[in-house]
Amino acid sequence: MPKSKLGIIGSGRLGTAIARQSSKAGYEVRIANSRGPESLGLMLSVLLPGVIAGTVGGVIEQSDIIVLAIPLNQYKTLKPELFAAKVVIDAMNYWPPTEGAIKEFMNEEVTSSEYIQHYLKGAHVVKTLNHIAYNELEEHNLPAGDPKRRAMVLAGDDKEAKTVVSELIDAIGFDPVDLGELKNGKKFQPDTSLFNARYVANDL
Ligand SMILES: NC(=O)c1ccc[n+]([C@@H]2O[C@H](COP(=O)([O-])OP(=O)(O)OC[C@H]3O[C@@H](n4cnc5c(N)ncnc54)[C@H](OP(=O)(O)O)[C@@H]3O)[C@@H](O)[C@H]2O)c1
Repeated sequence: MPKSKLGIIGSGRLGTAIARQSSKAGYEVRIANSRGPESLGLMLSVLLPGVIAGTVGGVIEQSDIIVLAIPLNQYKTLKPELFAAKVVIDAMNYWPPTEGAIKEFMNEEVTSSEYIQHYLKGAHVVKTLNHIAYNELEEHNLPAGDPKRRAMVLAGDDKEAKTVVSELIDAIGFDPVDLGELKNGKKFQPDTSLFNARYVANDL
């Protein structure tokens, strides 16, 4: 069966690492930044052969799973109407030291991914890929069954979306561990014990 089409918004450190690993795993991968596809030509030909550059809107429209890998303070540039029924991986973190304080994310009762879900109303948001450093995505992946295989936690409110995302996590070399509802993303945001920590699935 053909794998899902993956669209990555953000072509920086995290976006390119996810693009490379998912393309190697057989996904059809598209990627976009805010400057347009022509700005990505050289990088794609050298670092990401097989990955397709597009506009933000085009990549969203042509993909089944969308990974958000842009600075969180940019989320309102995304057009919510494009995301209806899409599976969205929110890999973004609220990190005031680099982005500055953002009023809505200062409310500790609501997680950043719940804000993203509220903003992208029709989408099925799954929080994951946010708690691992981009270089570790490329260095720590291992085949299924390896006892040292690193766990990747996820949280979301839609069961089917979590299944699709778990397949992706497995395909890029990590063991998916479902922590339940989207609000449980608070367990692996920055400044938690799971953030940037290395566990195997059984430890969790
Ligand atoms: N770096 C990591 O190891 C890591 C790990 C886990 C999670 N994260 C999270 O992932 C997000 C991205 O981090 P990063 O380190 O990859 O940042 P980065 O290296 O600065 O890359 C950000 C990318 O987003 C693009 N971008 C910015 N605004 C955009 C917009 N409005 N529309 C489309 N593209 C836009 C930028 O390109 P243009 O400016 O050219 O548009 C750039 O390609 C952050 O929320 C971070 O917390 C990062």
